[in-house]
Amino acid sequence: MFTSPWRQRVAFAVLGMILITGSVLLAIFFTPPSPPPVPPNEALYRDASLPIETRVEDLLGYMTLEEKIGQMALVEKNSLKNTKDVAAYGIGAVLSGAGGKPDDNTPQGWKNMVAEFTDAASGTRLGIPILYGTDANHGNGNVLGATLFPHLIGLGAANDPVLTERVARAIAEESAAMGIRWHFSPTFDLPMDIRWGRVYEAFSDDPMRAGTLGAAYIRGLQQAAGQGARIDVLATAKHYVGLGSMTWGTSDNDDFRIDQGVVSNDDSETLTDVYLPPYRTAIDAGILSVMAGLASWGGGDISASEYILTDVLKDELGFRGFVVSDWYGVYAISWNSYDSTVSAINAGIDMAMLPFDYKGFVSDMHKAVIRGDIPQARVDDAVRRILRAKFSMGLFDDNGASRSGLETVGSTEHRALARETVACSLVLLRNQKRTLPLSSDIRHIRVAGSAADNVGRQTGGWTVEWQGIDGNWLPGATSILAGIRAAVSMQTTVEYDLNGDFPNKDLADVGIAIVGEKPYAEGWGDNVQPRLDDIDLAAIASLQKTSKRVVVIIVSGRPLIVTDEISKWDATVAAWLPGSEGRGVADALFGASPFTGRLPLPWPRTIEQLPMTVDGQTSDGSTPLFPRGFGL
Ligand code: BGC
Repeated sequence: MFTSPWRQRVAFAVLGMILITGSVLLAIFFTPPSPPPVPPNEALYRDASLPIETRVEDLLGYMTLEEKIGQMALVEKNSLKNTKDVAAYGIGAVLSGAGGKPDDNTPQGWKNMVAEFTDAASGTRLGIPILYGTDANHGNGNVLGATLFPHLIGLGAANDPVLTERVARAIAEESAAMGIRWHFSPTFDLPMDIRWGRVYEAFSDDPMRAGTLGAAYIRGLQQAAGQGARIDVLATAKHYVGLGSMTWGTSDNDDFRIDQGVVSNDDSETLTDVYLPPYRTAIDAGILSVMAGLASWGGGDISASEYILTDVLKDELGFRGFVVSDWYGVYAISWNSYDSTVSAINAGIDMAMLPFDYKGFVSDMHKAVIRGDIPQARVDDAVRRILRAKFSMGLFDDNGASRSGLETVGSTEHRALARETVACSLVLLRNQKRTLPLSSDIRHIRVAGSAADNVGRQTGGWTVEWQGIDGNWLPGATSILAGIRAAVSMQTTVEYDLNGDFPNKDLADVGIAIVGEKPYAEGWGDNVQPRLDDIDLAAIASLQKTSKRVVVIIVSGRPLIVTDEISKWDATVAAWLPGSEGRGVADALFGASPFTGRLPLPWPRTIEQLPMTVDGQTSDGSTPLFPRGFGL
């Protein structure tokens, strides 16, 4: 067949090479992968009596790369096609984003939904429990029937660490009863510009006040439920770092103006003296989860900053918990999902919040580790941090899903605490002729304004829906108008009309205008001119014509510019976003509780005074309408 010996040799050599390559390929494709190490029943990580670090290291030793990557994924529950994926991908955590509720939006419905996810995780090879997280930032806002407390700005005005801790404990009890053991709160943002749509999610622009109240809040959430128990509800300090100090007009998001913008004053002195102190306090209070903010720092995304996440937070401040990215935060870094994932994880993100495509994350991560773009040691460090939190919560020993106590959700006791908190959060800004407190025997009251009979406005954003609800239909909630009606004597006439349209023109003893903002959340609340709208101004004007004196109650997520109007009002109260218990407002109006709240941030006179400086001064040096700490 071969015409010459050398051709024969070449042919044999080629044939040999084909055979060798073929067998190598066969070996690669048909050799079964080595089986993952199987833990014995008495594996150290299952022994609750051992130190957490021993258990973490032991478990890490049994985990495959896939299982480690799964732990780093925090998946939005609406994007999970079915709960089986929790097991198939070994997913570490599931969240309900704002409005991410079960079809049966009742406490029992929530408990059932969370249990489905926790059961799916505990049935896996290693039985690593999931974390179930929500933004219960003023109570379990997604859950119909839960107690809704004042948003954090109101707690900042009350400025009482003991009260703050009690509130957080009550919120934690309500969520733990439903199996929700992780909250994306409290917020340590320092809002310097009232045009930002997230002012109300923060305690104060003062790092000291934010730090003290935030630490109290963490203690309240995390407090062990009983003897020998561990962290009850895991808190998250957010949004790390410098959020609240973004510059107006710099948002990365076309729909927003300042939210997701560029943090100003990103020098190391401001970082050390202003932005970091609250986080130091949080670490001292035992925080084990920190959320990286959606904003830019020093020319790049915070989620991609190794300096901010690793050098400062983990190395310098000694944070031993895990850093979670914010909603889609990893993918805000670049248009390329692979590059974004590599940058974020290498910078120090330990868990990625994945609202949409968790499968893409898993495959990018896998590729990156195999190629060496993300070191295996970085993955181990991230997983170690996540497991440390899970062990610290006792999740391996009791996954919390079997807890009873659903009756705690919206309980009379919690509503009473919320009512007390509302009264403590009100700031009396003006009180001419001792208009307040009113006598409960007063003969005739007229009430008007968009927020008088509207629990949706009282509760603000993050209530049932991300942007809140505008209307009066929250089960179990009491409007401020209802609170007033309940506080007055049998002889008192209370007339109400939203627009202040009262046919009978005889003068009432007092007109109470309850006015304010429509609910909003995040960048959708960025507002170039936060002020009262014309409907509310007209309602006030009409009360001025039909009442001897006028009290204006401002229901808003931030100070509004009222400089031109306030001197015409007899009394003015900043009520923030008080939540489901409108009676708390009436308690202070009618003297059952004294006014003790103090402004948690300066109240500007004009927009030109913005942003406030980090020491609470206006940017042009003029005096604000009311300084931080003011309250009659
Ligand atoms: C917010 C976070 C929140 C997360 C999950 C994001 O849009 O910035 O504060 O925790 O959503 O709901």
